Amino acid sequence: MSVELRTEHDTLRFGRKIGSLLQPGDLVLLSGPLGAGKTVLAKGIAEALGVEGRVSSPTFIIAREHPPAPGGKGIPLVHVDAYRLGDDLAQLDDLDLDTELVEAAVVIEWGEAGERLSEDHLLVTLTRCDDDSRLAEVRPSGKWENRWPGV
Ligand SMILES: Nc1ncnc2c1ncn2[C@@H]1O[C@H](COP(=O)(O)OP(=O)(O)O)[C@@H](O)[C@H]1O
Ligand SMILES: [Mg+2]
Repeated sequence: MSVELRTEHDTLRFGRKIGSLLQPGDLVLLSGPLGAGKTVLAKGIAEALGVEGRVSSPTFIIAREHPPAPGGKGIPLVHVDAYRLGDDLAQLDDLDLDTELVEAAVVIEWGEAGERLSEDHLLVTLTRCDDDSRLAEVRPSGKWENRWPGV
């Protein structure tokens, strides 16, 4: 399943669509090279959930928890940027995401490594095309195979 995201706005909107589907304990993995639009997608997800704080790609922080904002869905968002973790998977364990995965929605950039956190996850791979549009390939796994409504 893939969808073309012509503009940043399209990517934000696609993120909002994903965010509107999320429930506590859900895991979304975002994959793709630097500049592919993972953080833009995470912003859309945060918008749909209605959480506090700005979603960004902080240089030193690996994970940031965004508490629910008034009027939102009431689900906290844990946004992980695993870029700096590299191949050091032990650090991913140190983040204690298993605990977060009970009540928060967890979104991991550079997230392939997160596949082992739960079989139930939505993997979105972004690629940048020659005309600067993006292609999002969606791979629902586990319970997401039934939950993902299509693009
Ligand atoms: N279709 C698009 N979707 C997402 N971002 C886009 C798109 N077209 C251009 N951009 C730009 O590409 C950059 C993507 O950055 P970012 O989301 O931080 O990437 P990543 O988190 O994958 O490294 C932003 O500067 C954004 O404005
Ligand atoms: Mg990013």
